[in-house]
Amino acid sequence: MNASRPVVIAQISDLHCGSQYHIPSLATRVVDEINELRPDALVVTGDLTDMGFRQEFKVAHRLISRMEVENVLVLPGNHDARNVGDLHFEELFGSRSTELRFRGVRIVGLDSSEPDLDAGRIGRNRYRWIEERFSEPDEFKIVALHHHLLPVPGTGRERNIVYDAGDVLRVLGGSGCDVVLCGHKHVPHVWRLEDMIVVNAGTACSHRLRGMTRASYNILEITEDRVKVILKHPFSEPETVADFERDLRRECLWKPSEDYSTAGPDDPAPARDPKECR
Ligand SMILES: [Fe+2]
Repeated sequence: MNASRPVVIAQISDLHCGSQYHIPSLATRVVDEINELRPDALVVTGDLTDMGFRQEFKVAHRLISRMEVENVLVLPGNHDARNVGDLHFEELFGSRSTELRFRGVRIVGLDSSEPDLDAGRIGRNRYRWIEERFSEPDEFKIVALHHHLLPVPGTGRERNIVYDAGDVLRVLGGSGCDVVLCGHKHVPHVWRLEDMIVVNAGTACSHRLRGMTRASYNILEITEDRVKVILKHPFSEPETVADFERDLRRECLWKPSEDYSTAGPDDPAPARDPKECR
């Protein structure tokens, strides 16, 4: 990572192309702003479409293709998993779980969608794979998924959080993950949970909004010692909403399970010293 030039990552989410709430003028503005920003990477955290239809995916593909960014990671959301939309997603965007590596940063994208369900899941069969992706100690580690891993304020009754959010948070925390990027709720927010920064995105270019929120997207600015989260409403000035020291790392020795895939409800709890987890 070059000290004089921060790593810049733009996160857009919940485009909802094809919906009556998708606003083409907002989408065009987002494309123009991203092209002016020239980020190192673009992460699209799902809900490209409204119903998973092919023509909606084509509109989304054209929109994303207009953003002149070298590293692009696109993930499906619950709306994209409707009507077997995953087939169109894969044809136009490739794998539903993929990764990017650039300038000392690794972004692992996870498909959290389930066919025709609004709720999300990662699943224990992927925990080891996630840990392997994040085994390089010197990389800055980011995971991206559509569904939220933590409740988001200002979104009403909690629902559709990732079914196995607790276990996923444990896997990510134990793997040294630095940042989590989520979408789904259409409300931007930043949590810091232990060593991780958990960033939720709003909807970039639709009027599927909650309360008084406006369409928005996020910009992540990573330097050698800081991580900034910048909220950007199309047509408005950027606003820094979080600014953390980059090195949040603490040592946690608590490993509740030695093997996620075989631990069962009848297995004895591992012996541990409560003072180990500081
Ligand atoms: Fe959405």
